[in-house]
Amino acid sequence: MEKIRWGILATGWIAEQLAEAINNQPDAVCLAVGSRSQQSADAFGGKWNIPRRYPTYEALAADPDVDVIYIATPHNLHYENMKLCLNAGKHVLCEKPLTVNAAQAQACIDLAREKGLFLMEAMWMKFIPAIRQVQKWIKDGRIGTIRLVQANFAFNIPFDPKGRLDDPALAGGALLDMGIYPATLAHMILGKPDRILSAAHFGETGVDELNSAIWQYDRGAQAILLSTQRLERPCDAIITGSQGYIKLHENFWHSQTVTLKQSGSKPEVVQLPYEGNGYGYQVREVHDCLRAGKLESAVVPLADTLEIMTLLDEMRGQWGLVYPGE
Ligand SMILES: NC(=O)c1ccc[n+]([C@@H]2O[C@H](COP(=O)([O-])OP(=O)(O)OC[C@H]3O[C@@H](n4cnc5c(N)ncnc54)[C@H](OP(=O)(O)O)[C@@H]3O)[C@@H](O)[C@H]2O)c1
Repeated sequence: MEKIRWGILATGWIAEQLAEAINNQPDAVCLAVGSRSQQSADAFGGKWNIPRRYPTYEALAADPDVDVIYIATPHNLHYENMKLCLNAGKHVLCEKPLTVNAAQAQACIDLAREKGLFLMEAMWMKFIPAIRQVQKWIKDGRIGTIRLVQANFAFNIPFDPKGRLDDPALAGGALLDMGIYPATLAHMILGKPDRILSAAHFGETGVDELNSAIWQYDRGAQAILLSTQRLERPCDAIITGSQGYIKLHENFWHSQTVTLKQSGSKPEVVQLPYEGNGYGYQVREVHDCLRAGKLESAVVPLADTLEIMTLLDEMRGQWGLVYPGE
């Protein structure tokens, strides 16, 4: 079997995790890395055994031997980076959030379809064994009809006005970086809400440091979602149904411990470890799709990615948060 040849665009924290995950796949090779500087490309390439090291993203996209590019830049750059790669004829796996807003996401989806190229948001949570198990329990009716999803993503990250999370120019703030996980979990379980009520507290640079939302479903369900980059609290998620509840222990988006409590029974605590650093599943999904000639993943469909972006837009709209250049 021919190896799938990856290019990695950017050399930050998450790019390191994916380089490790790709290197662990027997049917893949990290062929090239692109960075804003030759020095970073060389350092990253040396560390992860990547032979081709480019000082620009454009040079990476132009490498004729790269099959698929993984984009790992700050959120605000995903849009232009995706356009660069798709226009160069590359399949793309792009970090979450796919873009800063739904209009940009739609444009990238349209471009991928027009070019006949694979595109997926790197929503690794959806491949984590604990998450898959929870979906199966819900589908099997183990806790009855789902009425409530509560999910919290709360890290206390030191304030840095030039850092990715606090700089509005980099589309900083908790919602797009962290809140996308509670939102994706709620959407995965309950779908699109009928109404949203959301509020945020802004930090010194004007991005959301703390936000919460109630997603209301006319059929009698709610999702209560919180994300913050300035407070620490347990990052758990609890899904409650008419006949019990499921708890994803922290950190819920890559939980390895799940409690199933069915009405009338004792809680059952199940350990569900994941392989490696947990990022390999989505890499394998890309491989499976490419080998099958599929242009999108059934686990992370583009329609879901787009719909979640519209919900995040709605939340930001309620707070009046607009990023520069939007
Ligand atoms: N799936 C996950 O678990 C997970 C975890 C963390 C982050 N993420 C996502 O991954 C993306 C990157 O996050 P990260 O934590 O890896 O960020 P990071 O450590 O700050 O790295 C971002 C990289 O992007 C490049 N870059 C290009 N323009 C930049 C700019 N103006 N400022 C800063 N960096 C710039 C840099 O690489 P070069 O210098 O090489 O060009 C930099 O190393 C975000 O969209 C985030 O949401 C996902």
